[in-house]
Amino acid sequence: MTAGPASPASPASPASPPSPTAQRFTGDSAGIHRLVLDLRRGEIPAHVSTQALANRTLAGLLDVRSPRLLPSTSDSVFAPEAPPAGPGRPAVPFLPRERLLTPDEQRTAVACFARALASGELTSGPAVARFEHGLGEFLGLPHAVATSSGTDALVIALLAVGVGRGDEVIMPANSFAATENAVFACGALPVLVDVDPERHTLDPTLIEAAVTPRTRAVLPVHLYGRLADAAGVYRVAREHGLPVVEDACQAIGVAGVGRYADATVLSFNPYKNFGLTGKAGAVLTGDSALHARMEGLAYHGFAPGEKNVKAGLWGLNAKIDNSTATVATGLLPGLTLNNYRRAFLAHRYIEALAELGTAGQLHLPAFTDDHAWHLFPVRVPGGEADRDSLRVRLRESGIETDVYYPVLTHQHRTPLHEKLFGDVVLPRTEKLNATVFHLPLHNGLSVTEQDRVIEALHAAVHATTR
Ligand SMILES: Cc1ncc(COP(=O)(O)O)c(C=O)c1O
Repeated sequence: MTAGPASPASPASPASPPSPTAQRFTGDSAGIHRLVLDLRRGEIPAHVSTQALANRTLAGLLDVRSPRLLPSTSDSVFAPEAPPAGPGRPAVPFLPRERLLTPDEQRTAVACFARALASGELTSGPAVARFEHGLGEFLGLPHAVATSSGTDALVIALLAVGVGRGDEVIMPANSFAATENAVFACGALPVLVDVDPERHTLDPTLIEAAVTPRTRAVLPVHLYGRLADAAGVYRVAREHGLPVVEDACQAIGVAGVGRYADATVLSFNPYKNFGLTGKAGAVLTGDSALHARMEGLAYHGFAPGEKNVKAGLWGLNAKIDNSTATVATGLLPGLTLNNYRRAFLAHRYIEALAELGTAGQLHLPAFTDDHAWHLFPVRVPGGEADRDSLRVRLRESGIETDVYYPVLTHQHRTPLHEKLFGDVVLPRTEKLNATVFHLPLHNGLSVTEQDRVIEALHAAVHATTR
């Protein structure tokens, strides 16, 4: 992850000179992690901000060492107290749709869309390349293809690295259906491998045993926003001459994303850390030949920069719309501010629930610097029944939680899944899935809402273990 040369946003008051020990702040998860720890310790962060466009809003706040980065000020960057819940609605919803974008972001999105509408450049247009440049700058990768969804980006990446009919792709079983669907869409079959029990992500030590002469790619997923052991996966894949396509749809901004993969796939659907006003995604790479193949696959097989002149046999109609890219470019400066909000709230959860973790009543994630905190997973050591009854108690206290992907790839009950995966057993993935659930954590979660979740969780755990 790098930060580009973009000029800083105008500060509200003169910036203090950086201290000699100031760290360079690039907006990746490692920098955000340090920033959260500094602020939680009450230290004034001494970071020198360098900015990619994606980093501009947060970097501008750092330059003035803004108290707004803490929730205690009236002008905080954190969401204000949420409006009272309507009848029948939880006091703290898991992911309230009407708050996916902040009022500021909504205004920006409307203004950007109006501009695109007036220009008539709705499908193709200049914002696409601008947005792709902004993504590449942020991830430190030279080539990006912005697409109509993360799912399309996965299909394009897999096809471009050579996955086709009858091939096998090694991947985990605990992901959104898009991951396996992309493999099926190429005519290939998922080969499911168990996960690391802490990270919930593909265990590189188990990959080798799954390789066959038909294996064509490895597809790790940075689940919940935590980086898989990307270096380990890449090493094993390379030993077998296999390309890596990483599903980073939940992990934008994580340090290490883009470093150990041939192609890196992102999603910008409205529920993601960087969510837009509809479906969108992207695939990035450092390989110019792969990039050219992906551009063709994303748009009818056309040669780069040419319309109706083919360089490939065929391609999808899966480029991002210029109207969406205009909105994306308008919202991009707030990307790392939203990642900061999530990391700050994740740290707050971890501190406030630590006692339950120490007592062995709840298994909490560690506050690691390779995490985008797309979701906040907790595990109930007792098992599925205990997990479910804890969730019911929370629901009775007005707290909505979720089990994000309740059905693992090999446990779907379609005839084809039963035929393909009937004999598959993945003990760690299955145990994690039976005991995990997710607490509310989103860009618009207020600190007061979070306090309610914390209080209710303490009470519910004590009630179930009495
Ligand atoms: C892990 C994972 N993979 C793939 C996708 C697909 O992305 P999209 O919804 O943009 O198609 C998502 C998002 O929904 C996801 O979370």
